[in-house]
Amino acid sequence: MDFSEARKTILNVLARTDLHHVPKLINWIKNSDDIDNFMVDNKKTILRSIADNIRDYLPLEAMFPSETMAIQKTQQNPKPTLHVDAFLYEEETVDSLCDEGKMSRNFCLNCGSHRTALIEFISHSFSISELQFLFHHVLPDLMGKLVVDVGSRLGAVLYGGYLYSAAAQLVGVEISKEFVKLQTMIVEKYGFNDRVQVIHADICSQNVLVQNADVLIMNNVFEYFMEPKDQVRAWEFISQSFRKKGALLVTVPSIQEALVSLQETNRASAIDDWLEEVPIDYSAYVQSDTDLDSLKQIHLYRVV
Ligand SMILES: C[S@@+](CC[C@H](N)C(=O)[O-])C[C@H]1O[C@@H](n2cnc3c(N)ncnc32)[C@H](O)[C@@H]1O
Repeated sequence: MDFSEARKTILNVLARTDLHHVPKLINWIKNSDDIDNFMVDNKKTILRSIADNIRDYLPLEAMFPSETMAIQKTQQNPKPTLHVDAFLYEEETVDSLCDEGKMSRNFCLNCGSHRTALIEFISHSFSISELQFLFHHVLPDLMGKLVVDVGSRLGAVLYGGYLYSAAAQLVGVEISKEFVKLQTMIVEKYGFNDRVQVIHADICSQNVLVQNADVLIMNNVFEYFMEPKDQVRAWEFISQSFRKKGALLVTVPSIQEALVSLQETNRASAIDDWLEEVPIDYSAYVQSDTDLDSLKQIHLYRVV
């Protein structure tokens, strides 16, 4: 049924409804959880369709060969590690790929034996349920706000923000030309360009944008993609530019963890002059497919 047929059918139903029940029915359409749930599911369907679409353009590991540092860092991990992008591959998709023998959750401890251990999965994107949690439960109403995703990669945060929030503008800044091309294609295809923009740049060149941002999102941006000294420089830039009082910063992992791993302990203990942590109610969102541990990696701060 297309829009005009659906509209006619709804008007028909309203015309056939007992007059004294019409206000109740309209109130149900406007305010009920049934409709809200339908809308949420519909948005999830759009995000899944985008993920389907993007999978066609990328190899299984969802990384471009040009990402030499990220590939090296994944291989150097002490435990066998695989990049499985959580936006592109939900749990059920991973299960079917394992069943088809295209992916494995295990590696063999002694070649040829049945002794196996779990492979560690890392993701360079938020999953669809993390995006829903982020925009519905972590962040406040974003009506009229400017949201900047630092390192927007596949654009998951931009599409999630478009569908799950009323943000006025969602800007992704991505250093990889190939990922910018991919995001631009999706933004145009799905008609998100009235509120979404993708910039090909190093975030450190975007002083004005970062100064004006109401919300800055930093999901594991630098760790796999920059040398430690460049990561320190980038954090320095963020802490100097992102100073709008009351603006919100979302990080994965916590900012302290990111700085301590760079041996920036002094900077980590001095963030109180810049940010205050805002507690997140993780219990507010529990769905069957929710990985609570990954939600707990999400941290929210307010610029003081
Ligand atoms: C872990 S991904 C984050 C993906 C996305 N924000 C999300 O949450 O789904 C990090 C991305 O940051 C990009 N990146 C790393 N350093 C950057 C920098 N200095 N400026 C802009 N992008 C950067 C990388 O190319 C990579 O695509």
